[in-house]
Amino acid sequence: GIKIATIGGGSSYTPELVEGFIKRYDEFPVSELWLVDIEAGREKLKIVGNLAKRMIKKAGLPIDVHLTLDRKEALKDADFVTTQFRVGILDARAKDESIPLKYNVLGQETNGPGGLFKGLRTIPVILDICKDMEALCPDAWLINFTNPAGMVTEAVLRHSNIKKVIGLCNVPIGMEMGIANLLDVEHSRIRIDFAGLNHMVYGLDVYLDGGSVKDEVIEKLSDPENSSFVKNIDGMGWEPEFMEALGLITCPYHMYYYKSGEMLEKAKISAKEEGTRAEVVQQLEKELFELYKDENLDIKPPQLEERGGAYYSDAAVRLITSIYNDKRDIQPVNTMNRGAIASLPHGSAIETSCVITKDGPIPLAFGDLPVAVRGLVQQIKSFERIAAEAAVEGDYKKAVLALTINPLTPSDKVAKEIAEEMMEAHKEHLPQF
Ligand code: NAD
Ligand code: G6P
Ligand code: MN
Repeated sequence: GIKIATIGGGSSYTPELVEGFIKRYDEFPVSELWLVDIEAGREKLKIVGNLAKRMIKKAGLPIDVHLTLDRKEALKDADFVTTQFRVGILDARAKDESIPLKYNVLGQETNGPGGLFKGLRTIPVILDICKDMEALCPDAWLINFTNPAGMVTEAVLRHSNIKKVIGLCNVPIGMEMGIANLLDVEHSRIRIDFAGLNHMVYGLDVYLDGGSVKDEVIEKLSDPENSSFVKNIDGMGWEPEFMEALGLITCPYHMYYYKSGEMLEKAKISAKEEGTRAEVVQQLEKELFELYKDENLDIKPPQLEERGGAYYSDAAVRLITSIYNDKRDIQPVNTMNRGAIASLPHGSAIETSCVITKDGPIPLAFGDLPVAVRGLVQQIKSFERIAAEAAVEGDYKKAVLALTINPLTPSDKVAKEIAEEMMEAHKEHLPQF
């Protein structure tokens, strides 16, 4: 039978994943699902694990759910390992999102200083998981959802012996669904050629039943209502002149780069008025776990869709199912470039449309990125690479360097000041420094 190990099993996203396995059981018959967490997550694991069991019972499927704090037991002979953990939980994210604001720099989960520090906390843990996988399930696929997913995938590719790794984000599927909505057509009729990096991905073209609708979609993206496809980013709409000249479909995270000033001001205001996104999510999480506790609940509650990671399970399970069945369909994932994008390093992680086979994703070669975006994408890749090295080596100076070259940081001095304060604030989760 198929064994899945899910690390960070106490996440409120777990019902998403379980729903995905239930829906696709016919083509992907999971027999064991091992949800792993750590001591601090014991209670959450129990609550969400019991909901998972009720969901599976209701579906009448023979999937055994195991809850454990013993990662090794869960990894032993696993076929697929999925990761969705958060080192330091949302308290750490609240610091990532609030400290930079004091220095007039964006505070965000996966971008700028917040993204850097989430990476510094996460990378040692994922590399440890890779070591365990080498020993306990060397043939398994690692499907990483843990943010910053691009940097984490880069670290696994360059600093571990695990080659079967795929990084996953819900933004591309969210863009497909969002555009299908804008055009009022079914999701399956829309396809986007994706290329770029995680949270820095562009739609090179978008098709409805095979014909390009790019210009129409670009026009619609000028409307603030239409400009974000995820719940965690409040879109601002694009200047039509910019978008039409760019000629690409942007992802919501691009707003932090092409509207840096406005997005920073907005982040400051919302931090004051309603707290950081981490604090908003803490409240949401509390409500979700109250619902999950209800013994009569045996489905994924719709309230989960208020989280930014909506459609995560669709993305994860369609990916795993295509690997398992060697479907050779096209899906956007994070994988090693291998020359698909000429101006990015061969061995780096890119987020791009891939053919999904039993041997993993094969990136479609789009040649190169348009000149208008090439430099920014390269700069973010350099940031990710140097940040990953800083995380692995525990090199404080490299962390300052990574932050300084990040386009959201104004100077080396500010980078150093932020790094200093964040190193101190997060020291319990940064043992390598
Ligand atoms: P969360 O705060 O609920 O954390 C999930 C679980 O991880 C918690 O139960 C926690 O105890 C556990 N955990 C912490 N350290 C661990 C460790 N060393 N080993 C095992 N478990 C550990 O987080 P969440 O909001 O559910 O998000 C989970 C992760 O998924 C985050 O990293 C988040 O950034 C990521 N995410 C990614 C995407 C994407 O597009 N790739 C979308 C949404 C969320
Ligand atoms: C999605 C992203 C994730 C991110 C999440 C935040 O936009 O793809 O990578 O972690 O939303 O959602 P949250 O509800 O935690 O703010
Ligand atoms: Mn994402």
